[in-house]
Amino acid sequence: MNQNGSNGIRFFSGESIPVELHKVRIVQKLHLKPIDERLEAIHEGGYNTFQLNTKDIFLDMLTDSGTNAMSDNQVSSMLQADDAYAGSQSFYKMEAALKEVFGVEYVLPVHQGRAAENVISQTFIKKGQVIPMNYHFTTTKEHMEVNGGKVLEIYTDEALKINSDHPFKGNIDIKKFKEVIDTYGAENISFVRMEASTNLIGGQPFSIQNMREVKKLADEHGIMFVLDASLIGENAYFIKEREEEFKNTSIKDILRLMCDFADVIYFSSRKVSSTRGGGICTNNKELMLKMRDLVVLFEGFMTYGGMSVREIEAMAVGLMETLDDTVISQSPAFIKFAVDQLDKAGIPVIKPAGALGCHIDAKGFLPHVPQAEYPAGALAAALFIISGCRGMERGTISSVRDENGNDILADVELLRLAFPRRVFTLSQTMFVMDRLKWLHANRELVGGLKFIDEPKVLRFFMGHLAPTSNWPEKLVAKFKADFGDSL
Ligand SMILES: Cc1ncc(COP(=O)(O)O)c(C=O)c1O
Repeated sequence: MNQNGSNGIRFFSGESIPVELHKVRIVQKLHLKPIDERLEAIHEGGYNTFQLNTKDIFLDMLTDSGTNAMSDNQVSSMLQADDAYAGSQSFYKMEAALKEVFGVEYVLPVHQGRAAENVISQTFIKKGQVIPMNYHFTTTKEHMEVNGGKVLEIYTDEALKINSDHPFKGNIDIKKFKEVIDTYGAENISFVRMEASTNLIGGQPFSIQNMREVKKLADEHGIMFVLDASLIGENAYFIKEREEEFKNTSIKDILRLMCDFADVIYFSSRKVSSTRGGGICTNNKELMLKMRDLVVLFEGFMTYGGMSVREIEAMAVGLMETLDDTVISQSPAFIKFAVDQLDKAGIPVIKPAGALGCHIDAKGFLPHVPQAEYPAGALAAALFIISGCRGMERGTISSVRDENGNDILADVELLRLAFPRRVFTLSQTMFVMDRLKWLHANRELVGGLKFIDEPKVLRFFMGHLAPTSNWPEKLVAKFKADFGDSL
């Protein structure tokens, strides 16, 4: 695979088309319900796509978390699972895979990524300390704050630009890292965190060179380096594609190199190995022992950590498959295809194309919707109404309020359309692109949203909203006028 998304396979027509290097062997039937039923469903769900029921959804592009397609080898491995509470052979296979792929000695299993964040935050954060990082993830920030820490985002000037050609928007700004050390003192920094294929800024990678510089500074001041490896495979793929020094290095060697910089690595295996679970790894016995008791307390015994042993078996296989270019390049190639299509149609979309999804700039798409009325949430609701496709709001609804109860407006308002690995076909991708182009042509019909029921923690999951006017009905009327009886 290469950056034009062509898989090295050229078409007579000259087009860049990502050819699937897998075939479909198990399928799940989908339904595209009529638009009136879609409107009713989003209304019932409080205009929050997390609250939709999959029976009402056509293409579920909410997330790649736990929704990637598993390989035949993964599914068949699940039958061999060893159901022991302690000493399960399934765990030792997973441990061996992590040793091989990440090059780590100690493995603590946890039930998913945020459980790792809980253990790491409780163990290493002292009240009043700061945690500098390239960018936060929702659950990461909550866990750190619950434990009395403060997240400091020290991204580069390129990170939040929608239209950029910078290959590594996930880099840490080294100058800002130095300033944080000078301002707070190394003793008040719990650790520095780098998130591979930085999720909330559009799945954007960092470079090895940047990791080197962060590590050097961290070591000089005795600061621990924590790597969120949930999307490490794709980040390694982008390093191979975009960082000159590594164009002839294997994905396996790049992954090892990335992991070698970190003192502690954690991951959501809902992402990295296309299963459902998570883990924490380190080569430092002392650090492992500091965390181990919390794993047993919150997650389960050391050889299952709250996970099903079937998932653990599949995780071992999935981790090894991370080394396969055709597995980890599939989602970026489809994302690139989608980004190119939208860009050509004048739809504002995060560039360069990154990992996990295609990210549409809702502020640019709906400039007439004030940020206080949640443009990314409104765009997600509108797209569902007109297509049955479920995306995820990644903007102010996913943010929090300040101590006075005012919304902290998000840096970017994004509608994320996730491309879980090897799940959607090209014609399904083209259907979403088509409906987005129609929505863009009719964007003035889309209005804002307001909260009617707002939970205090992670409100984007369970919150309910309502439209600020009857814009959804007007949108449906225009859809019917243009598409007649088409679904
Ligand atoms: C970068 C990153 N870290 C942590 C998590 C949390 O993982 P989980 O959903 O398994 O709790 C996620 C989930 O999407 C993520 O993308």
